[in-house]
Amino acid sequence: MFRRTLMASVAVTMLGAVSAHAQTIGFSQIGSESGWRAAETTVTLQEAERRGIDLRFSDAQQRQENQIAAMRSFIAQGVDAILVAPVVATGWDSVLEEAAEAEIPVVLLDRMVDSSPDLYLTAVGSDLVHEGRVAGEWLVEAVNGADCRVVELQGTTGSSPAIDRKNGFEQGIAGADNIQIVRSQTGDFTRTRGKEVMESFLQAENGGADICALYAHNDDMAVGAIQAIKEAGLKPGEDILVVSIDAVPDIFLALAAGEANATVELTPNMAGPAFDALEAYFADGTLPEKFIQTESRLYTQADDPAAQYEGRKDLGY
Ligand code: AHR
Repeated sequence: MFRRTLMASVAVTMLGAVSAHAQTIGFSQIGSESGWRAAETTVTLQEAERRGIDLRFSDAQQRQENQIAAMRSFIAQGVDAILVAPVVATGWDSVLEEAAEAEIPVVLLDRMVDSSPDLYLTAVGSDLVHEGRVAGEWLVEAVNGADCRVVELQGTTGSSPAIDRKNGFEQGIAGADNIQIVRSQTGDFTRTRGKEVMESFLQAENGGADICALYAHNDDMAVGAIQAIKEAGLKPGEDILVVSIDAVPDIFLALAAGEANATVELTPNMAGPAFDALEAYFADGTLPEKFIQTESRLYTQADDPAAQYEGRKDLGY
């Protein structure tokens, strides 16, 4: 059904059934596992308010079943559209089909699903593979040919950023035989787990003496790991290089203190492009690109991290 409604010709028919402006939008957020997630929630709420949208917010506490229940509730309420940040990549077909049957467009935020793209209107996110590749390439340059044993803190198992950032990093270091990932485990994108898993890495790697670098799939895990490295009597940023992803304020504090080395930015403003796409869709049936890509850039200690911190500290992280 939705496969048809998303075709331009039929989309116009669908428009007749709803208002020209999406008044009521359901948002199923993953939870609040990281500073970045908190900022994405804040930005989404602010953008909705600014545009006069009635945003119905649901926090899934990291559980996919809660997200699916929230989406079913939004469908039952007859919302005009649904935003969802999918915690994992698999298991969305049924609920997306239900939304399609109800002719409610769904927009994915920041993470991808393995369902047919016909089942959602668009996805707003970064190139997650590229982010990992940028981190890997930074490390290749930073170690300049020296042997380097890397430990990796992965994001939530089964989530698209964990899968793609791992692949991207491996692509970034491919061809650098001096760099080896020696340990890799999930830290679930949280500070607490990042610290705990780093403690186990340090213990297993000669108190950390055998570790040259940490690659963390987000800054929060890196911040937790930095604490573990310090408690082990080592200097993060010097004894163990630290590269991660998100560009949250706390990683800029760590960069300014010389305790982290690089981060790849992920903008928390996914909602702006999502609401723009929905507005155009409801106005005249304009179908957005299936993937609306946000920018990612690398920050290092050379990028005035103290100023970056000041610029971001009040943005809801
Ligand atoms: O999906 C984006 C990732 O989810 C962010 O990098 C991470 O901090 C968050 O938990």
